Parts: sequence; structure tokens; C-alpha cells
Amino acid sequence: MKLGICSDHAGFEYKCELKDYLKGKGYEVVDFGTDSTESMDYPDVAHPLAESVENGSVDLGIAMCGTGNGMAMTLNKHQGIRAGLAWNTEIGRLVKQHNNANILVMPARFITVEEARHIIDIWLETEFEGGRHSRRIEKISTRQSE
Ligand code: RB5
Repeated sequence: MKLGICSDHAGFEYKCELKDYLKGKGYEVVDFGTDSTESMDYPDVAHPLAESVENGSVDLGIAMCGTGNGMAMTLNKHQGIRAGLAWNTEIGRLVKQHNNANILVMPARFITVEEARHIIDIWLETEFEGGRHSRRIEKISTRQSE
């Protein structure tokens, strides 16, 4: 599986650690930046990651900024993206099981890197449940009449 990863300056150190962790587990990891702790604008890396998930050049994505909100807001502007914010393992499980998030977003300033590893592990291991949740995620992009 090929994973795309990105962060802004607030998540840069986590991104470095998590990239090594994922490579160690055998994943191919494509890094969309940023490349340092120098202040930058999260949309500059979020949009390229979203496009790569949408066009299938990576299978899934992981994104981090300070709170996770800027990344999630930007990523979810893309029609093919379901970016879900998770800050503990239970939400990491549910964001795949119920929402089939194709990009996992984490708040680097509010979790430890160890917690981030566990959240990623459970999100990658969990299967989408389908059923009523398929109907619900199909309704996200366009309003459907009853
Ligand atoms: C950077 O200071 C911070 O605003 C950013 O990482 C993120 O939290 C935005 O949503």
C-alpha cells in the first residue's frame, strides 16, 4: 500500500517520525512536505496530497497540523476526499469503520507521537463497515431527496 503524508511546520517533527515508522512497517510513503519547522501555509501541502488520493497515485493519506483543523478543512474541499480528524484510537477506528476516511488527520500539538502511531495503526487495520454508513457517506457530497 502506498501512503501519502503531509504536515505544516507544527507537524513536521511528527511527520518525520511517522514516515520512518511506516516505512519500517513496509509501507511505501510519499512525502508531500513541508520540509522543515519553518512557518508555512498548510493548504500548500494539503491540496497536493488530496489530489494524489483522488487520482489514485497514493492509496490513503495522513495529514497533521497543530490542531488538525486547517488540514481537514482544506482536504475536505476536494470531492473525492473524506478527511477525518482523530485524536485517540477509538476515533481512529471509527473514522474508518463509519466514515471510511481516506485521509487521517491528527492534531500534532495535542497528542504524543506514540499516540499518533497507535491511531494510524488502528485506522489502517480497520475495515469500513458499509451498510447504513455507505448510504450516509454517499449523502455527503450531494443532498439527496427522501
Ligand atoms: C500553526 O500555528 C497552526 O495554525 C496550524 O498548525 C493549524 O493548527 C491550523 O489549523
